[in-house]
Amino acid sequence: MAAKKKAPKKTRKKISKGSGKESLTITDNRTGRVYELPISDNTVRGMTFRDIKVDKEDFGLLVYDPGLLNSVTCKSTVSFIDGDRGILEYRGYPIAQLAEQSNFLETAYLIVKGELPNAKHLAAWEHNITMHTMVHENLYKFMDGFRYDAHPMGMLVSTVGALSTFYPDAKDIFDIESRRVQARRLLGKMPTLAAMSYRHSMGLPYVYPDNDLGYTANFLSMMFRMTETRYKPNPVFERALEVLFILHADHEQNCSAHAMRAVGSSDVDPYTAVAAACGALYGPLHGGANEAVIHMLKKIGSVKNIPAYIKRVKAGEMRLMGFGHRVYKSYDPRARIIKEVAYQVFEETGKNPLIDIAVALEKIALEDEFFIERKLYPNVDFYSGIIYQAMGFPLEMFPVLFAIGRTAGWLAQWSEMVQDEERRIVRPRQIYQGERGRDYVDIKERPTPATRERLILARERL
Ligand code: CMC
Repeated sequence: MAAKKKAPKKTRKKISKGSGKESLTITDNRTGRVYELPISDNTVRGMTFRDIKVDKEDFGLLVYDPGLLNSVTCKSTVSFIDGDRGILEYRGYPIAQLAEQSNFLETAYLIVKGELPNAKHLAAWEHNITMHTMVHENLYKFMDGFRYDAHPMGMLVSTVGALSTFYPDAKDIFDIESRRVQARRLLGKMPTLAAMSYRHSMGLPYVYPDNDLGYTANFLSMMFRMTETRYKPNPVFERALEVLFILHADHEQNCSAHAMRAVGSSDVDPYTAVAAACGALYGPLHGGANEAVIHMLKKIGSVKNIPAYIKRVKAGEMRLMGFGHRVYKSYDPRARIIKEVAYQVFEETGKNPLIDIAVALEKIALEDEFFIERKLYPNVDFYSGIIYQAMGFPLEMFPVLFAIGRTAGWLAQWSEMVQDEERRIVRPRQIYQGERGRDYVDIKERPTPATRERLILARERL
């Protein structure tokens, strides 16, 4: 019989000062040592685990958190979400109040600068952004280089990144004046680049900005103006889009905000960081979900097909797009507002037939145990695509529209990160599971193709 392993002697080690009960006591059963880790803001500093070692040579404990499900990566004052209660606030102001009473540029000011502007500051902000709606002529040539069927989001990612080559002063990220100018430029030029990508994909001539129009009206003009001398937007569409920009303006540490901060942490200019954020937004699990929702609703085709579709979702064959959220475990407050806006738009356009499928799908899903158990509710993307489609935006433009609104949030998150005293370049760790210390093999002596193939396949399955 194997000898019973002697229990290690307990020694208590304080990693750093705990304050009363605001601490966590951990016993490392490998050594018997007890550690007291301070808790602040309901978090434990990841680096305090590094002192938990088996011996002096040991690197120390790391925290394994794929997808950063339980990791806090920054302190922020931009937006607040209570996922259980379905609350979203920008700088402390409830989203519903802003959607009802504010406009996009005022909300962008609030998000970027932290306070609502007075009338004078708002007028200056609007003026400064409007003065930056034009882009360098070379950008039109750059845009022309894309294939006729290029996805507008791909074009946006590339052209916004290319802006860094036009504004080398943007590298001066620690200069507050430079940051302010880049913020105005980015907010001013995003709708222009977005509309250019649409016009290119449609083979239509580009429309230059009309600075007599407001922010959203000007965007609609650059999108849809044909031969008329003055473009007059439908006021219901203009307001609906304004509300959608407000609702998309920020959402704390989502995938694209994290990309903005992570890429920005290398001290790169904000245009390059926004290109990275746009790239993150493009994916179907993030800003591309609204496009995916329309594809899904079209595929379902009719209310009578919903139960069969839900069955397949429950069997794990696919996800219900526009449903579920990492943070919201109740109804996404943005989805509630968007659903109302949809019916206002339909009064102008006639009903988008997909809305009936969406409403029925929501009802059936919300009564189903699978969705109740997992706390899956409609998110911001569930109804937004239906509105965009009714207003005449092609599906490929949906993530681009999301990016216009979200630029305000990216800028605020980036600026906060640049000024954060605790800021470090984002550089996570890994658990290495690969080979070590192999000797180089001459090409003639390597395994036969079949054996190699098997080895590669075996590795891919890991
Ligand atoms: N349809 C069916 N099942 C789902 C869905 C869904 N849309 N979302 C999550 N689940 C299930 C998932 O299968 C898992 O079940 P189980 O525990 O049995 O394995 C459970 O719910 C938890 O899911 P998760 O993947 O661990 O959750 P997550 O926090 O990692 O993912 C999400 C969040 C938004 C990526 C996910 O809910 C999803 O893929 N939704 C569909 C895509 C979508 O609508 N994205 C837009 C998000 S909101 C706007 C934005 O961020 O841009």
